[in-house]
Amino acid sequence: MSKTLSKDLDTIWSDVWNNLDSLEALKSISSDETMRWKLKYAPKGRHIEAGCGMGPYVFYFNKLGFDIKGLDISESTVKKNIDFSRELGLTDNLFMVGDVRNLNIESNSISYYISLGVIEHFAEGPMEALKEAYRVLRPGGIAYISTPNVLSLANTEEFIGSILLPNEIPKRFVRKILYALGIKKRKDNGWVERRWKLRTLKNFVSNAGFIVTESTNVGLKKTFEGAWRHSKKNWNKILLKIKPFLFPFLDKLEDSYFSKFGVNNIVMAIKPGKKMHCFFCDNLSLSSKSNLADFQVPVCNSCINDHDNFVLNYYKRGKRPFFSQRNYHKPKSKAKPTCSLCNVKVKDDFFIPNFGFSKKICNDCVRLDSNSLILRNKFLAYNNYR
Ligand SMILES: C[S@@+](CC[C@H](N)C(=O)[O-])C[C@H]1O[C@@H](n2cnc3c(N)ncnc32)[C@H](O)[C@@H]1O
Ligand SMILES: [Zn+2]
Ligand SMILES: [Zn+2]
Repeated sequence: MSKTLSKDLDTIWSDVWNNLDSLEALKSISSDETMRWKLKYAPKGRHIEAGCGMGPYVFYFNKLGFDIKGLDISESTVKKNIDFSRELGLTDNLFMVGDVRNLNIESNSISYYISLGVIEHFAEGPMEALKEAYRVLRPGGIAYISTPNVLSLANTEEFIGSILLPNEIPKRFVRKILYALGIKKRKDNGWVERRWKLRTLKNFVSNAGFIVTESTNVGLKKTFEGAWRHSKKNWNKILLKIKPFLFPFLDKLEDSYFSKFGVNNIVMAIKPGKKMHCFFCDNLSLSSKSNLADFQVPVCNSCINDHDNFVLNYYKRGKRPFFSQRNYHKPKSKAKPTCSLCNVKVKDDFFIPNFGFSKKICNDCVRLDSNSLILRNKFLAYNNYR
């Protein structure tokens, strides 16, 4: 199959993001269930979000003190993001234009490569992008790759959509027949979106050279956030009413076998090397690859023996991110307006209260290494009251 052209990708995605408001895009991340995975695996060093769209995660990670840059093929979106960074008083080199299949980034320089819903959009398949990810990551560097799950019931048009919107079924059926008979032509604008099983994605990532140390499906609740939701106001109203009962139930299922049907595949993988950067202390030391058999991230021998490092436990193989608090209603803000760690007065952040944590925290405390891993693994809040 021929390769999806960069200029087609630029046109398609510039169209998608064109009318979206930057602040709205930012706010949407407070209800992102997978944040606990994204934050858990963030090491020190240079991060890149490859295919960042409106850049909500870039802004958020930047707020948390990480050295992150966003890259996207859509020139107009990158420009919009840069303008927005300036509005926020941030540096204007947070974003750059580029193609994830051919990055203008030196080899072995990146510690965290984040790719959310990008590599499934190439007619020629995901390998070129994954090999580039491998090239730019440093030994011990972490790749976080997420794509849609073929087993999700949120393939709305096909399933949940058909249950909730039965009147759409005949229309879709007729359309299919017209395509089959060649009476109606499919719009061919280079658009592809592959949906894989988790296992398939894992195989792609391993074939690029990575060691996959963790993988999961996440996002049962997202099943109910499909495109049909906005067009069907009545369904939306009902959904908002039943959310407080339905969502905690889905959370229970999320911790069981049924997570298999979540909307996302997530694969976490390490670029191996003779020496690797330790996730905890960042030192480049002779790796014992076997540590990766026990841990999801590279850990040096002295960090393994550091008995004060209780966070280490969260990174053992098979440990799922710890989810301390789930709020389904707008929290009543009775908390004291001071940082829970240093007691200085804090103003709520403009897009995500308390930086998304369940503790009040100030700009300085959130950036301290000594707090970061504990906050990310123990105090991440989840809000879904929109
Ligand atoms: C589904 S969106 C995800 C956006 C963002 N990661 C998020 O989760 O909010 C996919 C993004 O990948 C970008 N993209 C697609 N192909 C790309 C390529 N070859 N190089 C760089 N970016 C690409 C698109 O422009 C789009 O912004
Ligand atoms: Zn270490
Ligand atoms: Zn503080």
